[in-house]
Amino acid sequence: MTLSIKKFLVTGGAGFIGGNFVAKVLSEEIGKVLVLDKLTYAGHRATLRSWEGSPAYRFVQGDIGDRQLVQQLFQEFQPNYIVNFAAESHVDRSIESADDFVETNIVGTYVLVDEALSYWQGLSGDEARSFRFHHISTDEVYGSLGATGYFTEQTPYAPNSPYSASKAASDHLVRAYHRTHQLPATISNCSNNYGSYQFPEKLIPLALLNALEDKPVPVYGDGLNIRDWLYVEDHCEAILQVLAHGQPGETYNVGGRCEMTNLDLLHTLFQCLKDQADLIREHTDYCIDVDYASLINFVPDRPGHDRRYAIDTGKIQRELGWTPRENLRTGLAKTVTWYVTHLDWCREVLKDNYDRRRLGSAKRTVSDP
Ligand code: NAD
Ligand code: DAU
Repeated sequence: MTLSIKKFLVTGGAGFIGGNFVAKVLSEEIGKVLVLDKLTYAGHRATLRSWEGSPAYRFVQGDIGDRQLVQQLFQEFQPNYIVNFAAESHVDRSIESADDFVETNIVGTYVLVDEALSYWQGLSGDEARSFRFHHISTDEVYGSLGATGYFTEQTPYAPNSPYSASKAASDHLVRAYHRTHQLPATISNCSNNYGSYQFPEKLIPLALLNALEDKPVPVYGDGLNIRDWLYVEDHCEAILQVLAHGQPGETYNVGGRCEMTNLDLLHTLFQCLKDQADLIREHTDYCIDVDYASLINFVPDRPGHDRRYAIDTGKIQRELGWTPRENLRTGLAKTVTWYVTHLDWCREVLKDNYDRRRLGSAKRTVSDP
């Protein structure tokens, strides 16, 4: 990808996708990075440890909804790009309580985009022309598909979970700031990411760790829900392409072109674990003679569970020349290798934080607080 050295203000950079994005920008010497992250249960300095001490990298712990802090950081750092990954990202947690989702995803994004507008209005010449505010969104805003068809950039929004509803609201705010105030903003809506540094509450890392530890792997409902799996490094490359060549005001859908039922995904993951038995033996004390498939444990379905997601990637492919490099087998093999060799990271981020229990399993009743 081609971007001259730029300054990236990355919100949510201590999380899964943000952390991978920061690593790409710094390791490929594409630019300088300032991370703004609240360090919620999902954000960890450990994800960014290799960059500490690098002159191209700075970390600030704080909230995207803290207007004064955001304003101060914009003025100090003078970013060319603001990339907003910061969010509450887990559907199951949004079923338990949507408070933080509304606060961060809606109110926080509002504050960030509003301050970005003031900052951009203070720029001039090339700085103003090349400035971009890029907002990371999700395919979940489009709702659920039937057996056929794909989400395109024209698909009407129909979010089904409190999480996706909060992301939809944030997308509308960003879009409105472009239409009303001409803020040079872009949005990308991507499918399910997987890869290194994903917090072990999402299906792939949770199932991977449970399988290694010979524990049940919870499968919601009949396990036939379909997701389109996108390797996180492919996603990060797509974001860089949008920043460099995307048109302000436009939305780009990003998908892995790897549609699969959850059950088929798990069987593919188990095969990758079998293929890497030597690595598991070398790096861990876990038993490798496990019949992983027997660990599958059907549990009650997620309330409001979307049945199928699938992305039409035609626009980003045609207009920006982006296509995913990894298929599910190659991406999962890399992911398994990473987790098996980074179990210390898993222990560190889970400690006193999350015990891998089922979240969001029941509809709330009137007696719930
Ligand atoms: P994540 O949960 O791993 O990381 C989110 C990060 O945001 C954490 O580091 C957290 O500390 C930080 N954060 C939360 N609230 C904040 C606040 N108020 N101020 C500053 N920082 C805050 O999430 P992720 O999976 O990396 O997702 C990143 C973005 O991509 C999110 O906007 C999410 O909606 C979107 N997305 C994720 C996926 C996926 O499969 N993971 C797919 C589509 C879209
Ligand atoms: O599609 C993009 C979205 O993908 C992002 O916007 C979200 O931030 C991200 O979390 C992800 O949402 P999902 O709900 O699809 O991901 P999750 O890993 O939670 O679940 C994937 C599928 O697996 C889904 O059909 C629910 C199911 N599942 C999940 C868990 C955690 C299980 O069957 N068992 C589980 O234990």
